[in-house]
Amino acid sequence: MANVLLSAKDIQIRFGGVIAADGINLDVLEGENLAIIGPNGAGKTTFLNISTGYLRPQAGTVTFLGQDITAQLPRTIVKLGIARAFQIPQLFLDQTVMENMLIAAASRRGHPSGLRALSHMPEAPEMERLLDLVGVKSYAKRTARELPEGQRKLVDIALALALKPKLLLMDEPTSGVASSEKLAIMDILTKALAEEKVTSVFVEHDMDMVERYANRVAVWNVGKIQKVGTPAEVLADPKVREQVIGI
Ligand SMILES: Nc1ncnc2c1ncn2[C@@H]1O[C@H](COP(=O)(O)OP(=O)(O)OP(=O)(O)O)[C@@H](O)[C@H]1O
Ligand SMILES: [Mg+2]
Repeated sequence: MANVLLSAKDIQIRFGGVIAADGINLDVLEGENLAIIGPNGAGKTTFLNISTGYLRPQAGTVTFLGQDITAQLPRTIVKLGIARAFQIPQLFLDQTVMENMLIAAASRRGHPSGLRALSHMPEAPEMERLLDLVGVKSYAKRTARELPEGQRKLVDIALALALKPKLLLMDEPTSGVASSEKLAIMDILTKALAEEKVTSVFVEHDMDMVERYANRVAVWNVGKIQKVGTPAEVLADPKVREQVIGI
């Protein structure tokens, strides 16, 4: 049986009258690509926030490789091996793509280094390899601001990989990208994750992406997990189709 990487047990959180997590139980297994789907406001991003230490649940625990991370700080959780990619890539727009990578590498080492020293960092060849892996090496010397949206997303993934995670959490990795580009980005992304042996959880609204790239799907609905299964099982469920996908 596959190793459990992340395990959420009975997670509860409410914001005033809004219940964003109401008894969430979920195991993320090593090597899988798990999609999280569900309507707006269901609590999908909240789950990612809790798993990365940005929010503390009012009840329940999250463990990562058997260690309780519920009350840990985001930077501690990153060091343990959970990285995150954002809906809007978090890049330093006036730095070059390579500088962004080296800043991430420096933060992993815990040595915030001045920009002047970046070009001499021992991680430079590894960062170049990661940019190549996601197909954006030719942009290394361009500022992040110059990149088209799709390439920014890929750099954001390379930045997350620079942290050497075991698990990568992604909130709508292809949002804001033209539908014609989505497949290419997801192809590159999933190949890079497989190559680096990184497990992934991704929130996705596009069911074509879910069908194509997820091994397993968890359906969120009003702070609860309504169903977990293979993409085929989940997408064939009449309740999921009606309440979540809206067809
Ligand atoms: N920090 C917060 N403070 C107050 N309310 C919050 C906070 N974070 C989330 N919420 C509320 O909790 C509910 C769940 O939000 P969440 O962002 O997790 O939904 P989501 O499933 O990611 O939705 P979407 O598909 O629109 O991104 C929403 O009603 C949201 O307004
Ligand atoms: Mg969200």
